[in-house]
Amino acid sequence: MSTAPFPPRVPRSELIQSHIAIIRDILKAYTGYQARFGNLFKVRILKRFFLVATNAEYAAHVLVKNHRNYQKDRPSHIVGEVLGNGILFSEGDYWLRQRRLIQPGFHKKQIENLSRLMVQETQKIVAELEKVEGPIDTHEWMTRLALQVISRTLFSEGIDEKGFRTVDDSLTELLHFIIVRIRNPFLLRWYKLTGKLSFFDQKREELDGLIFNMVDARMAEGPGDTDLMDMLLTARDADTGEPLTREELRQELIGLFSAGHETSANGLTYTLELLAGHPEVLAKVEREIEQVVGEGELAFSQIMRLTYMRQVIDESLRLYPPAWMIGREALGPDEINGLKLEEGDSVSVFIYGLHRNPEYWNNPDQFDPERFNEANKKARKPYTYIPFGGGPRLCIGHQFAIIEMQIALALILKRFRISRANPEQPMELFPSVTLRPGSPVLLNLEAKETHN
Ligand code: HEM
Repeated sequence: MSTAPFPPRVPRSELIQSHIAIIRDILKAYTGYQARFGNLFKVRILKRFFLVATNAEYAAHVLVKNHRNYQKDRPSHIVGEVLGNGILFSEGDYWLRQRRLIQPGFHKKQIENLSRLMVQETQKIVAELEKVEGPIDTHEWMTRLALQVISRTLFSEGIDEKGFRTVDDSLTELLHFIIVRIRNPFLLRWYKLTGKLSFFDQKREELDGLIFNMVDARMAEGPGDTDLMDMLLTARDADTGEPLTREELRQELIGLFSAGHETSANGLTYTLELLAGHPEVLAKVEREIEQVVGEGELAFSQIMRLTYMRQVIDESLRLYPPAWMIGREALGPDEINGLKLEEGDSVSVFIYGLHRNPEYWNNPDQFDPERFNEANKKARKPYTYIPFGGGPRLCIGHQFAIIEMQIALALILKRFRISRANPEQPMELFPSVTLRPGSPVLLNLEAKETHN
């Protein structure tokens, strides 16, 4: 790392305080450093230094312009070691091959097909919500919804409720194990000594077993053209004509399952919460739903016309980006704006800070969907808004996620009038692997008189 005084860093005398502040509330700590030091600063977490970047130039440099000089950071690779090195965590030529194989599954036509499954799953959740009395825990319900949507679009009928709960529970346990490995490496030895490690091995075996069973059953019956598993089974390497191996299939299915539900569930939760707190915006979204969707089944062409709703979702992902930070590590020397970097240096693109950077956004903490109308979108500087990342590793599921959220909002708001159950209580945030609500988001759902 360069010995030059740039970039500013947390002074030595504040290191302990800084550790505590980061552990307690990393969003607040980083936002404070952003205000104090500017758009690039250095923090120390345990023994490692991290460069934290909060402006468009640095984000574009690392993710796009010189992306070849960066790979995912160490914590991401630890997740890859535990879950398997599919498209999410692999690097280099192998990643590119997987990306090319998987990409067609997320083309617009394919998303249109998948949207029918999304509508069916959302309708099931709406029917269940009708039976609920009292306020709902929005995050819990949206997690359920996103789990059902990803399970159904990946495995169609190949998985029942018990199956996807097993996948979700095992993944949750494994992610817990990963966080322990990253944050408290010394606990790993303790886990080995107490035999707890074998518990995690057992979870992984359970998860692998379930996925392999589904893959084997589908291979035996021959793939169709309904879901993402069919797409993976029929995908062929453009150069060699080879299909994915059974092990590669397992890794990609687990990767898509884990990438594809928590982020969407968080996005939906925040959007509903913001709508409930802004009745004038809510009324406009409801009017649009009435005009565009009307009565009858929700069609893909209608979803595409929910443009104001799209602005609301974009603004919600600005304020509460579910992927709140992207971590990268330099593969070799580099220079950003005069700052010299060396191999192994860590750069964190702090998306939460970028999305609230006052250099790009007026009243950045205020909810205002007009920021995303056509005129404002055109005028916006590139890479100031990156909820789905950018460059070659841009989220493969970004259109999937937007359609999923639009369907959920359309069907929920068509059926229910929503309001905050505790209007005075501020929402807390919990930045884990994704940015989750840190306190229950309680909403009242009152059934509307006319619906079909
Ligand atoms: C609101 C919802 C979502 C958000 C905010 C989100 C965000 C992101 C971001 C920021 C990245 C880039 C990470 C990096 O550069 O290190 C990413 C990658 C990825 N996402 Fe998403 N995502 C969402 C939904 C989904 C869904 C629904 C799927 C799949 C069904 C998905 C699958 C993936 C995959 C496979 C990658 C890795 C792509 C690659 O490295 O080539 N995501 N996502």
